[in-house]
Parts: sequence; C-alpha cells; structure tokens
Amino acid sequence: MLEISTQKDVMQAAGVIVLRPVRRCALLPRLSQANRQLSVSTGATTTDVPVVTPLPAKSSLKMRAWQLHCYGDIDELQFTDKLKLPQIRNSHECLVRVRATTVNPIDLAMLRGYGSTLLSMLRCRPGEDIEFPMTLGREFCGELVQKGMGVDNAELQLGTRVWGVVPVSQTSGAHADFVVVPASCLAPAPVELDDSEAASVLYAGLTAWSGLYLTGGLGGVCGATTTSGGGANKRVLVLGGSGGVGTLAIQILKSQGVQVLATCSEDAVEMVRCLGADHVVDYYNPVAMEELCNYAPYDIVLDCAGQGGQHAGDLKYDFRQYITFSSPLLANIDKQGLGLGALKNVSDLLQTNVKAAQRGGLVKWGYFYPAAHGIKFLQRLVERRKLMPLIDSTFEFGALPKAYERLKGGHLRGKTVVKL
Ligand SMILES: NC(=O)c1ccc[n+]([C@@H]2O[C@H](COP(=O)([O-])OP(=O)(O)OC[C@H]3O[C@@H](n4cnc5c(N)ncnc54)[C@H](OP(=O)(O)O)[C@@H]3O)[C@@H](O)[C@H]2O)c1
Repeated sequence: MLEISTQKDVMQAAGVIVLRPVRRCALLPRLSQANRQLSVSTGATTTDVPVVTPLPAKSSLKMRAWQLHCYGDIDELQFTDKLKLPQIRNSHECLVRVRATTVNPIDLAMLRGYGSTLLSMLRCRPGEDIEFPMTLGREFCGELVQKGMGVDNAELQLGTRVWGVVPVSQTSGAHADFVVVPASCLAPAPVELDDSEAASVLYAGLTAWSGLYLTGGLGGVCGATTTSGGGANKRVLVLGGSGGVGTLAIQILKSQGVQVLATCSEDAVEMVRCLGADHVVDYYNPVAMEELCNYAPYDIVLDCAGQGGQHAGDLKYDFRQYITFSSPLLANIDKQGLGLGALKNVSDLLQTNVKAAQRGGLVKWGYFYPAAHGIKFLQRLVERRKLMPLIDSTFEFGALPKAYERLKGGHLRGKTVVKL
C-alpha cells in the first residue's frame, strides 16, 4: 500500500515538480446527482447511426481541441475552439465529455510522425484517405454523454463517470472536449480516484498488464484471458520503475505476490521503494547494478525505460524473458515501408534473440493493448487500493503544449496530466 506522505516528502525533497502527488484516496462519490438523473432520449446523428443521447440530435455544439495539421514538433499543435463534435459512426461507440487526459511518450512520438505509415492505414475510414487534422491523446476520464444503440453494457449509462483509452487507429484522440471510442475501451471510473488520477491509469496500466500477462504469460492462460492476473512467487525486474508504465507495473506485480526488483535514477529510489519494490537499484551506480546478478535468473525483465531489445544481449544477469515496450516495429515500417519493414522486424527480433538464446532467454516486444478484461483487472486493483497512479505534473488544457514540453524534458515520475 502506498504511503502518501512519504512519497510526497521524498518527491519534494528530490525537487520533482509535484503538483498532484499520490495520495491514499477516500471513497468520494464523484458522480453528481444531476449526472445520475440525466434523462435518456433517443435520436439520430447526422451519420444516421441510432444513438442514445442527452445531446441535441443535430448538434451545433462546437468544442475545443488541440490539432495537428502536419507532423513536426510541439509548435505544430494548434488550438481551436470551433471544432464540430466527433460523431458516433458505429453502434458500439460512445461519445465522452473529457474532464482530464494525459500526455504519453506515444503522443510526442506520433506528433513527430512515428508510426504514421502503418497507423494511417488503420486510421483512415473508408472514403477518408486523409490523416490530418489529427487530435492526439490516448486516455481520459470524463462523462458518458451519448452512446450507440448497440452499447448494451448496463454499467454504461448516460451520465456515468467513465475512464477509457483511445485506440491508436483513431485520428480523434482525447486532447479535446469530446472523444468517441468503442464501448469496449470504456468502463465506469473507480470512485477511489479523482478525475486526474483516473485519467492516468489505463494507457500505461494496460501496457504493463499486456506486457506481463499477454506477452509474458505471467499468469498462464487464465492470466491472459481473464481478470485473474497471477504470477505469485515469480521474480520480475522492472527497468525504469519511476516512469508512467514502471510505477504501475511495480504495483500490479506486488498485488499478485511477485517479487519485484526495479531500476531508476538515484533521486527516485526511495519513491520506487514506496511503490512496493523489494529491491531498488540506481542504474547509474555500476556496483549496485552488479548486485542484480545475485537475484538472477529473472522470470521477466520488463523494459519500461526505453532500452530496447538490443539491450538484452548486454545484460550481465540471466533471464527467462526480456520484454521491451520499445520495439522498432513501427519505426522500421516508417523507414522501409510495409513489406521491407516487416522483414526488417523479423530480422531484428531474430538477431536480438540469437544473442539472448545463448543464455537461455527470450526477447519479446510488448505493446499497449486495450482489452476490456485488462481494464477490469486494473479497476479491481484500484478498488482494492492496490493501485494508485503517480502524477508527475498537471497542466490546464490551454497550456497543453507545456505538458508536451514536460514530457520532452524526460525524467518523469509518473504521469503528465491535462485538466479540461
Ligand atoms: N509499445 C507500447 O505500446 C508502449 C506503450 C507505452 C509506453 N511505451 C514505451 O515504454 C517506455 C516507458 O513509457 P513511460 O510512459 O513509462 O515513459 P516515462 O514516463 O518517460 O518513463 C521512463 C522512466 O524511465 C527512467 N529511465 C530512463 N532511462 C533509464 C534507464 N536506463 N534505466 C532505468 N530507468 C530509466 C526515466 O527517469 P530518469 O531518466 O530520470 O531515470 C523515467 O522515469 C517508453 O519508452 C515508451 O515509449 C511503449
């Protein structure tokens, strides 16, 4: 369990910009009476998909958003307050009014064109072969305001406070007042978290969960296909225990009875210990890094530090699996196109594995995956108070480019939140 005051003190002592430190939250019901009593009416949008909505059927509402009209740097982000609301085009989609969102490394990378070759093929809907303007933002907390008639999940009532993720195949992300996502990417937000906290869990949390349970098979078949988790008594080394993914990975693992070791910078060691890691090592300290050999072999080495698969071959300690979230998959396709890029991916993966296999290990690439049962798994951990996001810094919506600057500056200690 997190000790809030300790974390706060440690982070402040470390000089980290802490605007919203982790805290042990009280059970505060956050849904307003008005939301709960929101009347439900049916209507049709301009796309003729039947929807359940409290919004005017033909909405003339305009919204604010940060848009990208071409790839580049942070100064390419353009603010508008005259954008039409995104529309539900599929009966299984929902429209959400965003209250809080975050900026992830993927947003900064996509801003620069990362993954554009493959993602633009996935993003463009039939008849729409343009990828711009694009709105970034992969996760949010907000209020469900409209839903397609195919959304039969009883938990998703209009007015429900929800948390969710935006698949990378969408051009319209959560850096806007409203976002449309498939109902499977949404769930009621846990009351244990405020809006900023709830917006900070799912993208990094589903990345950690997917890496451990889908890619790493930590909980066997049940762990991958249900909400059961698992992995008790296994030993996992988390590289980069101080960032968005690492801080959540440590808490997920500890909640499942896994023995956790972690690396981070010296200033974050105490903070990462407070998250529950059994042994924490400053990766700048070669003597301390040598100590990691004493705990080997690791069932999983989870790379949340952007090291990549090549790094696995240089490790001094043995491991059964090395799972990195920094694969060259999309970058190879960007550079060489779909065909040659795919071949390069196979060759890269084989190459890293040849080196690792000599020591009995396997290198794998892990990815964010928006599985509904992954969301449920994370939700249960939050409800049991086993999982709390760490918030590095918070920005107002009008200052969203500053949030990108914060991310670009590196050395994050948790998530960069943007409040609407
Ligand atoms: N494949 C996917 O679907 C996916 C999804 C999410 C994230 N990712 C990737 O996963 C990585 C982690 O994401 P994130 O959101 O957690 O990023 P983040 O918040 O920037 O965290 C990275 C953390 O690692 C620390 N770090 C940097 N170099 C390190 C090293 N050599 N050893 C140990 N710690 C180190 C950083 O702090 P210091 O620099 O101060 O040490 C920072 O706290 C990123 O590379 C991201 O692009 C991939």
